[in-house]
Amino acid sequence: MSTTLFTPYTLRSLTIPHRVWMAAMCQYSAAPDGAAAGAPTDWHFAHLAARATGGAGLIVTEATAVSPEGRISPYDLGIFNDTQVAAFRRITSFLKAQGAVPAIQLAHAGRKASTERTWVDHGRQIAPDEPHGWRPVGPSALPFSSASTVPEELTGEQIDGIVRQFADAARRALDAGFQVAEVHGAHGYLIHQFLSPHSNHRTDAYGGSFEGRIRFALEVVDAVRAVWPEELPVFFRISATDWLTENPADDREGWTSQDTVRFAKELQAHGVDLMDVTTGGNVPDATIEVGPGYQVPFAERIRNETGMPVGAVGLITDPHQAQSILTGGGADAVLLGRELLRDPYWPRHAAAELGGRVSSPVQYHLA
Ligand SMILES: Cc1cc2nc3c(=O)[nH]c(=O)nc-3n(C[C@H](O)[C@H](O)[C@H](O)COP(=O)(O)O)c2cc1C
Repeated sequence: MSTTLFTPYTLRSLTIPHRVWMAAMCQYSAAPDGAAAGAPTDWHFAHLAARATGGAGLIVTEATAVSPEGRISPYDLGIFNDTQVAAFRRITSFLKAQGAVPAIQLAHAGRKASTERTWVDHGRQIAPDEPHGWRPVGPSALPFSSASTVPEELTGEQIDGIVRQFADAARRALDAGFQVAEVHGAHGYLIHQFLSPHSNHRTDAYGGSFEGRIRFALEVVDAVRAVWPEELPVFFRISATDWLTENPADDREGWTSQDTVRFAKELQAHGVDLMDVTTGGNVPDATIEVGPGYQVPFAERIRNETGMPVGAVGLITDPHQAQSILTGGGADAVLLGRELLRDPYWPRHAAAELGGRVSSPVQYHLA
């Protein structure tokens, strides 16, 4: 079934006003330590509020860590204490007042934690003994790249602890006013590290076979779903491929789009309502063929083969392109990243061009 951009979308009991959404984008702008560490600041308020007044139908916060060690950089947002909850509440209530649905991306960076902000030293990893650094964890003691810190291999007990942190984070997110919880299972962060045979060399119940490698992700989803209300949706962000097995010139084994389809069916059975479909991020030297809408075929395949709702993301920049992704059956919604940084009013401009409607602040009606 196809649809158009400016039609509402209902998942469970939540109606999202239209299908142009903002993708999660780290701002690396929280305090790294002190009482307000990890809490949204004026920057986050202004940044997210601008996209709400710009007309985005749903706004996903940047990767928001479930624990201090789960932050990518020391400057990431977190949702592991009540100071953070109070600061988020101000943002969610503003977004809702503008008609935008606030969604939170719950994340743990795993072996890719403890980095500089992207604009400092190209986001290099901070060594555990440097100021603001810590030793990252992962499914196996395998570094992301030859320049990366070797992570500590998680014990079964530590895995249980992280699953509980996701549940606590979801509970806090609900208290903070979020209406969608998105589990970050993509871009080479902890959940993706468990999924992929490239980064998961475990020999216990959390590794080896497909069933073993997806176990941690399913436990996280179950923990989040158990505290997230029945009437509200849970999204899962997936990297549909590591870009290894699909590349005939690369003989390394990775997570594949075939795995993704199989896994999506599991996620659906575990109460996930929508797959937010991206790719890559787990293998620094994988060859990725990038171009306009290059990840849409992965979203479309999940949609076709599982019937599951999907969001498409990646180099979607033009209103007609976005519309044709939906009318062509490629996705149920589009998520925009960088284009919304360039133009917060993109949803409104697209609606004007395509003849759709996006509600605007009453204060701006004379314009
Ligand atoms: C500044 C920046 C920060 C990002 N941070 C995140 C993040 O926190 N979580 C995530 O899943 N993806 C993150 N991404 C990826 C985007 O969500 C999106 O998938 C990607 O930018 C491709 O979409 P685009 O071509 O519309 O920008 C980030 C991208 C940018 C540009």
